[in-house]
Amino acid sequence: MSEPGQVVSSERVGAIAVITVDSPPVNALSHAVRAGIKARLDAALAAPEAAAIVLICAGRTFIAGADITEFGKPLKEPGLTAVIEAIENSPKPVIAAIHGTALGGGLELALACHYRVAAADARLGLPEVKLGILPGAGGTQRLPRVVGVPLALDMITGGEPIGASRAHETGLVDEIAAGELRAAAVAFAQKALRDGLPLKRIRDMNDKLAVAEPDFFRNYRSALARRKRGVEAPQACVDAVEAAATLPFEQGLLRERELFVKLLGGAQSKAQRYVFFAEREANKIPDVPASTPVKAIRTAAVIGAGTMGGGIAMNFANVGIPVTLIEANAAALERGLGVVRKNYEISAGRGGMAKEDVDKRTALITGSVSYDDIADADIVIEAVFEDMALKKEVFATLDRVAKPDAILATNTSTLDVNAIAGATRRPESVIGLHFFSPANVMRLLEIVRGGATSKSVIASSMALAKTIRKVPVLVGVCDGFVGNRMLAQRGREAERLLIQGALPHQVDKVLTDFGFPMGPFAMSDLAGIDVGWRVRQARGTKAPVADALYEAGRLGQKTGAGYYHYEPGSRAPLPDPEVERLVVGVSKALGVERRPIAEAEMLERLVYPMINEGAKILDEGIALRPGDIDVIWIYGYGWPVYRGGPMHYADGVGLEKIADRLADFADRFKEPALAPAPLLRRLAESGRGFADGETPAKAAS
Ligand code: 3HC
Ligand code: NAI
Repeated sequence: MSEPGQVVSSERVGAIAVITVDSPPVNALSHAVRAGIKARLDAALAAPEAAAIVLICAGRTFIAGADITEFGKPLKEPGLTAVIEAIENSPKPVIAAIHGTALGGGLELALACHYRVAAADARLGLPEVKLGILPGAGGTQRLPRVVGVPLALDMITGGEPIGASRAHETGLVDEIAAGELRAAAVAFAQKALRDGLPLKRIRDMNDKLAVAEPDFFRNYRSALARRKRGVEAPQACVDAVEAAATLPFEQGLLRERELFVKLLGGAQSKAQRYVFFAEREANKIPDVPASTPVKAIRTAAVIGAGTMGGGIAMNFANVGIPVTLIEANAAALERGLGVVRKNYEISAGRGGMAKEDVDKRTALITGSVSYDDIADADIVIEAVFEDMALKKEVFATLDRVAKPDAILATNTSTLDVNAIAGATRRPESVIGLHFFSPANVMRLLEIVRGGATSKSVIASSMALAKTIRKVPVLVGVCDGFVGNRMLAQRGREAERLLIQGALPHQVDKVLTDFGFPMGPFAMSDLAGIDVGWRVRQARGTKAPVADALYEAGRLGQKTGAGYYHYEPGSRAPLPDPEVERLVVGVSKALGVERRPIAEAEMLERLVYPMINEGAKILDEGIALRPGDIDVIWIYGYGWPVYRGGPMHYADGVGLEKIADRLADFADRFKEPALAPAPLLRRLAESGRGFADGETPAKAAS
C-alpha cells in the first residue's frame, strides 16, 4: 500500500507550488493519492511563499479516475469530494496541468481547479457510464456549466473523451501548452498572479445551463432509450444533468450523489466493473511473462481478399501499417480491393473519417497475385476458403516465401491450427488469429495458440491486437475455439425450440429482450442460411428447419427471405406466415406435438447450454479463465455488457440451479450434450461459482 507522501510530492518554483501526483500506472485516485493531494494542498495554502498552485501528474497520464479497485470497500477519508471542495475553495489559484487522459474523477478534480492547461494531445472525458455508474464527484453538475448541456450530455452518456483542441474551443481547457506542459502551467499560474485573474469557480457559472427546447430532456431520454436498451446508467446520467440545469448547485450535487450510490450498488455496475478488469486480465498469460520479446510489426500481408481478408487488411491500414493483399487471380483481387475502397467511402460519407483518409488508407493496401510480394512482411494472415487442403497448400508456400522470423497466422474459424502449422517447417511461427465479421469493425480477436506456437509469437500477437485496436483473448485449439463452440450449443437448442412449438421471432425476442442486439435467427439471415448448411454438409449433421429453408431457396437477407421476410432494400426482419407453415410442417413430419413455450424456459434453454459448454472449455484448458470467455462473448457476439458475460451471469443465477435445469433438459430431450459438465457439477455441489476458482490454468498451452 502506497503512502500519501510517496505518491504526491510538492516543490516550489518561485511563487508557485507544483504538486505532482506519481502513482503508476494511471494515477488513479486511491486513498494515498487523495490524502497526498489534500496534505500538499493544505501545506501550500499555509505557506506564505506560495501564491498559486499547479497540480500535475508524472508518468503516462493525468489522473485517470477514481481507483476502481476501492469501489465497494469502506471509504477512507478524505473522500474525493472533500479534496475537490478544498481545491475549489482555495483562496490561491489552482491550475490543473493535463496530459494523457483526464478521466472520471480525474476530470472532476480538474473541473474544481480554477484553470486548466492541457498538452495538445491530451484527452478529457467522463467514462463512468461504461462502468455502469455516473460521475459521482460533481462531474454531472460542473461539466454542463462549462461546455453547455448538449455536449455535456453526449460526453456523460456516451463516455467518450474529447481532444484538447475541442476542449479548448468549448472552454473546458483554458490554454493548450505550446511547449513543455509543466513550464506552460507554471507560466499560466504566474500570469494569473500578475494579471490578477479571478478565482474561476465553475459551480458559480450558470450561463450555459439553459436548453433551447422545453422538451429537450424528454427527447434526449427517448432517443437514448432506443440506442441503449436495458442499460440503467445512461438514463441516470440524464437525470443528473437535468438536475444541474434545473436545481441550485448544492441540490444538484445531492441528486448526483443519490443516483451514483444507487447505480454503484446495482448488478449492472458490478457486471461492468467486472468486465473492465476481465478485459485487462485477459492480456496476462501465465507462462508468457510481460518480459517476453515482442516483434515489431512494420509491414503485413493478408492472403485472400474476400469477406474477411479485406476487413483484416483495413485494420492495418487504419493504423498506418502498409499491407499487401494477395489473391488467387486479378479479377478476385480487383473485386476485393473495390470492396475495401467502398467500405472506406461509406465510412467517410457517414462522417466516420475524413475524405483524404480514404486515399491515405487505400494507398497503404497494395494488391498482388504473386506470393513473392510477401517476402518482407513481418506478419502474414491467411484468410482463404475454409478448406484444409487449400490452407495446407497456402502455408507450404508461405513457409517457402516468408522471411524467417515472420509470424504466420490463419484466420480459420473451425480448422485445426496444429494441422495447418504442420504444413510448414516452422510450426513455432504459426498461430491462429480469429477475427470476427466484419473484421474492420468487430473488436474481438481470438488468438489461437497451437501446440508448437512460440511464446514470442503469442506475445507479439497480443501486442499487435492492441496496435490494431482489438481486444485479444488467448484460446487453445478445438473445434470452434471458444466463441463458436458455445454458439453451436445455442444454435442447436434454438432449432429444437422451433420444432417443439416456438417461432423464429419469438425465440429472437427472448434474446433481444435479454440485451443481445439480435437473436440467432435474424443473425443466420444476416450471415446466410447457406453458410450453416455447408458446415452441416461437411460434418454430416442435420438441422431440419434450417435445412428446409435452404432447400426452399430462403438463404436469408441476400434472397429477401430466410427465417424472416425482408422488403426490398430493407434489413428489417418481418415474421413470415410462410415460415410458420414450414416450421409447423417440420414438427409434424417429425411427429412432435407443438406446445407454447414460456419465454423464461426459452431463455434457460438458449443460455444454460452455452454456460455448460463454457465449463467444458475451462476444464479442458481451452480458455484460461471464466473472464476470458465473458470478454469473448461481449466483444464478439453482443452479449450485453451489463450482464457481464455468460460465466459472470451464471454465477449470478447460481450454478446449482443451472446444473439442475440442464440435467432436466438432458433427460427430457434425450440430449447427452445437455448433461451438466463435470466442472459445473463440482462447483454447484460445493456451492461455488466460476469466479471462485478451480480453473485449471493449464489453459491454452
Ligand atoms: N482504477 C484502478 N485501476 C485502473 C484504473 C482505475 N480507474 N484505470 C486503469 N487501471 C489499471 C488497469 O486495471 C491496468 O492494470 P493492470 O496493468 O494491473 O492490468 C492498468 O491500470 C493499465 O490500464 P490499461 O491497460 O487500461 O492501460 P491503457 O494505457 O490501455 O489505458 C486508460 C489507460 C485510458 C486510463 C484506461 O485504463 C482507462 O480507461 N481506465 C479507466 C478510466 C475510468 O473509467 N475512469 C473513471 C473511473 S470511475 C470514477 O472516476 C468515479 C468518479 O466519478 C467518482
Ligand atoms: P471468402 O470466400 O469471402 O474469401 C476467400 C477468398 O480467398 C476469396 O476471395 C478467394 O478468391 C481467395 N482465395 C482462395 N484461394 C486463394 C489462394 N490460394 N490464394 C489467395 N487467395 C485465395 O471467405 P471468408 O468468409 O473471407 O473466409 C475466409 C476465412 O476466414 C475462412 O477460413 C473462414 O472460415 C474464416 N472466417 C470467416 C468468417 C466470416 O464470417 N465470413 C469469420 C471468421 C473467420
